[in-house]
Amino acid sequence: MMKKLNINLSENSYPILIGNGLFARLFDEIYKRRNYGKILFLVDGNVSRIYRKQIIELIDGYFTGKGLDSSTIVKILPIKPGETSKSIETLSKVYSYMIDNNFGRDSLVVALGGGVVGDLAGFAASTFMRCVDYVQVPTTLLSAVDSSVGGKTGINFLHTKNIVGSFYQPKFVLIDLDFLKSLNKTEILCGAGEILKYAFMTGPGFYSFIKKNIDKLLTLDNVVLTKIIVECLKIKGSVVESDEKESGLRKILNLGHTFAHAYESVLEYKVKHGEAVAAGLVCAVILSRKLSLMDEALYQDFINFLKQFTIRKSFNNLDKQKLYSAMLKDKKNRGGKIKFVLPHSIGELLVDVEADKDDVVYSLNEFENVVFS
Ligand SMILES: NC(=O)c1ccc[n+]([C@@H]2O[C@H](COP(=O)([O-])OP(=O)(O)OC[C@H]3O[C@@H](n4cnc5c(N)ncnc54)[C@H](O)[C@@H]3O)[C@@H](O)[C@H]2O)c1
Repeated sequence: MMKKLNINLSENSYPILIGNGLFARLFDEIYKRRNYGKILFLVDGNVSRIYRKQIIELIDGYFTGKGLDSSTIVKILPIKPGETSKSIETLSKVYSYMIDNNFGRDSLVVALGGGVVGDLAGFAASTFMRCVDYVQVPTTLLSAVDSSVGGKTGINFLHTKNIVGSFYQPKFVLIDLDFLKSLNKTEILCGAGEILKYAFMTGPGFYSFIKKNIDKLLTLDNVVLTKIIVECLKIKGSVVESDEKESGLRKILNLGHTFAHAYESVLEYKVKHGEAVAAGLVCAVILSRKLSLMDEALYQDFINFLKQFTIRKSFNNLDKQKLYSAMLKDKKNRGGKIKFVLPHSIGELLVDVEADKDDVVYSLNEFENVVFS
């Protein structure tokens, strides 16, 4: 059964469709909005390899059925898998490809992949010819619960994560749960990292549900998966609706991310974003306790739960000074001070928390003790 949510942002409003087998409806959803002249599929390389047949069949079936030649309308550009594709070089290839293939203002970009392709495609769409429309078809758990919704687009530059980007909303988001079936365990855990973030943002009910159903989530049980995706997107949707461009409330979505981005940068993006978020959440919980912003019982509960998420050895024994320096470059900082989002209790987050360097370094060290000893 299909679930539908709406993101209400006046003229930038859009629906999110969630269910099994929805990819088959992609062109119906596209053309009921506008008669696009050309469509560019930016497709994650692994998705293109695994789902090539389905993608081609869908395109050929739709256009042949209408007596049209799909090759003049639809182009597919595979994107090399991995964070390094969120780069100025890949963006340049996308622009060149669109120019070489005569894409105009009446074009649509389809992001078919995880957060990397989604962020890149959104940014390309927001800047090509001063903007063309785009849609998000997320194929990872992380992109389904988080990055495909909210309109943050961007690329990394000079080792700084998401430093160049825009706020630009898609026309719709189509989440076909069937794509998630080919994800490996690491990618599912990465999605779980962002899901845990949402567990801290709402009342105790959702946190308990996730704790109780964590095994079902990790094995992608359809009922549990659908409920969790819907709940996460409801939370994200309401935050984005009240603060689209992150001038206030939207900052709470960065819980764990100040630490996470520093880990990604110091580890030269050789770890996954979701893994870094899981590590960042542990650090945020430790820092919150260190600053006496969270009580001991809740701290122990969070830590015991978060410890179940295997965090790779590469997060151990890192240079704390380097991590701290990376945090100083965070976009959320003001006046040279690092601004943290920290959990206070379940459903209650504190934003713009400043901490002394000693307390931050303590949290980084304690993270290693808690997770690796
Ligand atoms: N814009 C936002 O609001 C936002 C929010 C959170 C994260 N992000 C960004 O999202 C990115 C991380 O996204 P991600 O975790 O989806 O990473 P990703 O896009 O790199 O995908 C992870 C891996 O899964 C593979 N993959 C994708 N779909 C697959 C499928 N169906 N089956 C098998 N393999 C598949 C990819 O090839 C890749 O190797 C980061 O760059 C992060 O900064 C953006």
